[in-house]
Amino acid sequence: MTLEDKNQNDIINSELINSYDIEYIFSDKPINRFKIKPILEDKSKLLSDLRSEIKNIDNCELKSSATKLVFSDGDNQSQIMIIGEGPGQKEDEAGKPFVGDAGMLLNKMLKAINIERGKVYITNVVNYRPPNNRKPEPAEVSRYSNFLRKHISIIDPKILILMGSTAMESLFGSKIKITKERGNWKDIIINNKTYLCMITFHPAYLLRQPEQKKYSWADLKEIKKKIDELNLKI
Ligand code: URA
Repeated sequence: MTLEDKNQNDIINSELINSYDIEYIFSDKPINRFKIKPILEDKSKLLSDLRSEIKNIDNCELKSSATKLVFSDGDNQSQIMIIGEGPGQKEDEAGKPFVGDAGMLLNKMLKAINIERGKVYITNVVNYRPPNNRKPEPAEVSRYSNFLRKHISIIDPKILILMGSTAMESLFGSKIKITKERGNWKDIIINNKTYLCMITFHPAYLLRQPEQKKYSWADLKEIKKKIDELNLKI
């Protein structure tokens, strides 16, 4: 006779279940009660619709003074999305974000944690260069944050990196300070979905204040750690 190793509770449970004439059993798995609208349409189509929406914006000083719409750069399938403030002169000429000096530093920062720029998705809070490179006004940030939220939902990244206070304020409001918030993982809910978010200094700020780079480096190491922990394919 062979002896089978059986869990006594399993035997009792299955005997109990078999003794009833039941049609289903209750699962002990949690039910996801959030209605997450699946993005069924092709990402590229959704992105091109969003681009057109921004292109057709009315009564916008940014649009009327800029030469080009600066929508995004990088891999739209990436699990990492980086958000800056807004285009400068070089970006306005090229129609691409982060191609000037701040962009060169951003590329180096990514490289330092083993990420090629082309492997991430990059955009800005506002998609047109503000006149004379001024900071976008709060009303502009708020208007464009509707586009930004849509943009994030379409890309659906695992990690959002907000560079600078304008990016931070566009999603978290203006009551918080970047010096206090940077370096900590935060959650942001957009369209019923929670995104993991890291606020860090903007590369243009680091060019003006190089002594702050040590904090930025600490944030980059945190980001790298999270990428490894979540086993993200970058
Ligand atoms: N600064 C930004 O915030 N975005 C750019 O695209 C370039 C500089």
